[in-house]
Amino acid sequence: MKISGAVRYVGVNDHEKTIFEGLWPLPFGVSYNSYLVVGDKVALVDTVESEFGDEFIRNIRDEIGDRKVDYLIVNHMEPDHSSSMKLVRSNFPDIRIVTNAKAVPMIAGYYGITDNIMTVRDGESLDLGGCTLTFHMTPMVHWPETMMTWFNEEGTLFSGDAFGTFGAVDGDIRDSSGARLSGWLDSPEDTFSEFRNEMTRYYSNIVGKYGVPVQNAMKKLSGLPVRRICSTHGPVWETRIQEVVSLYDRLSRYEGERGVCIVYASMYGNTAEAARALEAELIRRGVPYAIHDAARENLSYAYRDAFRFDTLAVGSPTYNNEIFPPVASFMNGIVSRGLKNRKFAAFGSYTWMGGSVRQLNEKAQNLGFELLSDGLAFAQGYAPGKCDMSSLADAVLKD
Ligand SMILES: Cc1cc2nc3c(=O)[nH]c(=O)nc-3n(C[C@H](O)[C@H](O)[C@H](O)COP(=O)(O)O)c2cc1C
Ligand SMILES: [Fe+2]
Ligand SMILES: [Fe+2]
Repeated sequence: MKISGAVRYVGVNDHEKTIFEGLWPLPFGVSYNSYLVVGDKVALVDTVESEFGDEFIRNIRDEIGDRKVDYLIVNHMEPDHSSSMKLVRSNFPDIRIVTNAKAVPMIAGYYGITDNIMTVRDGESLDLGGCTLTFHMTPMVHWPETMMTWFNEEGTLFSGDAFGTFGAVDGDIRDSSGARLSGWLDSPEDTFSEFRNEMTRYYSNIVGKYGVPVQNAMKKLSGLPVRRICSTHGPVWETRIQEVVSLYDRLSRYEGERGVCIVYASMYGNTAEAARALEAELIRRGVPYAIHDAARENLSYAYRDAFRFDTLAVGSPTYNNEIFPPVASFMNGIVSRGLKNRKFAAFGSYTWMGGSVRQLNEKAQNLGFELLSDGLAFAQGYAPGKCDMSSLADAVLKD
């Protein structure tokens, strides 16, 4: 697929994988994007998941016929992008791998490849004849060896996983030509909002811990006149550059938009009832929100919305003197992602001594969250009047 004068898309859609990185559901599949830059010499930027190797090589041949690929640029070593490296070398035996020093032992370790590797440093360039590629180190976005490749003449940033989304892409890969999230959608004309959701879910679960390195990378690259972002997952951004860059900026500063992410779990429905009562209050008051059952859903969706909204309301019954395990697991993920700048409120049912609400508050305080209330711990059943969610909603909504 032609992207521009010198750039070709040779990536693949994966509709088979249901769980990415062994953890994250893929309701719309995922794409592994790879690109050719065709100058006097030809460079391939990243590869694809090895199961799709044959299709990948076919895509390359369709674009360049019998020409050889001179360079393989390795921006990132995670196997979803590097595992076709051996296949690429067997098809193009003279190919020179271009990467940075941190990737070299990873290439040897994963694939036993130690020869014909050219190591580049931050700011160095490779001349393909008519096309100049400059390499920018962006460590910990989201592995230590990650770098981005800048194609000077066409203002194109090969950004690796940054600005990527879950979801296979139907039709043209470029957002400017109607890239579509794969799958049955209620409003395919609004596919960008789905991509934005999947970008936020990708970011919060995979990159979320690395807000500072992402900020550093964005500062470093901020002077580049970017006309196109070619990420390794999801659409090529041409129309929405501003939106995806500002989304990344906001997420990596841990800044939430106004709204509430309710996360709860419940054994006998009492904490669930309180969660639904809070939800009803938010609906009544027209506040944006999301609600997630931590025991029934994959937590990636709850993390997505915890990163999206500025307020977290967490409900847990007391369980053997502690927070109910699914909610504890959710909170552990919040701690390990280093989420910041949130307003927080806890609630939950107990029968004899309780403890879950106090422990949730402690965790939130350790994270520097602002407690909006003491929380609402109630003995046995939730009942309006006996314990009123509207008071918690008042606290949640105070500005
Ligand atoms: C296995 C188990 C352990 C529990 N441990 C405690 C506890 O340590 N302290 C307490 O006050 N209540 C404890 N409870 C009681 C629950 O907190 C109580 O039933 C609560 O109403 C459950 O809320 P839910 O309906 O949202 O699940 C326990 C209940 C179960 C089933
Ligand atoms: Fe990755
Ligand atoms: Fe990736």
